[in-house]
Amino acid sequence: MTDPSGHLPVLLDTVLDLLSPRPGETAVDLTAGRGGHAEALARRVAPGGRILLCDLDAGNLAFASERVRAVPGTELASMHGSFARADREATRLGWRADVVLADLGFASTQMDDPARGFSFQADGPLDMRLDPTRGESAADLLARIREPDLADAIFELGEDPFSRRIARTIVERRSRAPLRTTQELASAVVAAYGARARDSRMHPATRTFMALRILVNDELGALRTLLAALEQGGREAAAGSGWLRPGCRAGIISFHSLEDRLVKHAMADWERAGLGERVTRKPAEASDVELATNRRARSAKFRVFRFAPEMRADR
Ligand SMILES: C[S@@+](CC[C@H](N)C(=O)[O-])C[C@H]1O[C@@H](n2cnc3c(N)ncnc32)[C@H](O)[C@@H]1O
Repeated sequence: MTDPSGHLPVLLDTVLDLLSPRPGETAVDLTAGRGGHAEALARRVAPGGRILLCDLDAGNLAFASERVRAVPGTELASMHGSFARADREATRLGWRADVVLADLGFASTQMDDPARGFSFQADGPLDMRLDPTRGESAADLLARIREPDLADAIFELGEDPFSRRIARTIVERRSRAPLRTTQELASAVVAAYGARARDSRMHPATRTFMALRILVNDELGALRTLLAALEQGGREAAAGSGWLRPGCRAGIISFHSLEDRLVKHAMADWERAGLGERVTRKPAEASDVELATNRRARSAKFRVFRFAPEMRADR
């Protein structure tokens, strides 16, 4: 990692190529993060363009906003909160988007900060909230969740075949003392793996940590709400209302097969409903050159939809 922002934006050239932001347009970066994509989008919509930044993480939002503010010729607005509310914020501003981008998940700076509790690589409080000022931490969730629900989450969101054994070990340990730190959770997972830990290619706790992060932040719920808002925006666009302008390009970068499946099915449904067309039939992925410098890009899948310039009256 050599980027001074602490996070290398994935698929940057492909994002610009497929979303094709133009001078004077309005862009919405739903996951501003460290501002790599946002700054590039801002440069493309200048002069006369506008950009709305959203992030659950106030620190990231401030950092990205600074980068965008330094780009001359763009008007900036920012919203601290979930992108599930971005449609309402754009409507409140009276802005209609020509370009929408979501780069899902977490930024490297969040993962690398032990105080955020996302990683088992260093010890820290078991938090995992993208917005640490709101909602339930991973420690609080682990203190109350039922064993079968925990096992299902580790299986479905983490795809860990030892989910039942892991859930049982966590529940046994919490009956003696609450799990409060990343190392306490990691050690419970390693114990559940037992001798199998030696055969595991990745750290045994990798999948459990991913599952908990997705659960704590309701990441699939937020994505479903966003997809519904995009569909609604697409329907309203031609009528001259809503938060998307006719012809809006919406792109989503996902890092998890469940997320990619939701995006893929939504875009296929929108196309069948006559709302526009898929720009990507298969997701765009990182090149070998990018993979050599950015490991995070290895699971990135980028799908883009172009909403119709005008809709037929019967829809
Ligand atoms: C992969 S990073 C984005 C990186 C960014 N594209 C860049 O170039 O630096 C994902 C960001 O999205 C934020 N995030 C995740 N889920 C969110 C949600 N539901 N609403 C708003 N922000 C979210 C995270 O806090 C994180 O800062």
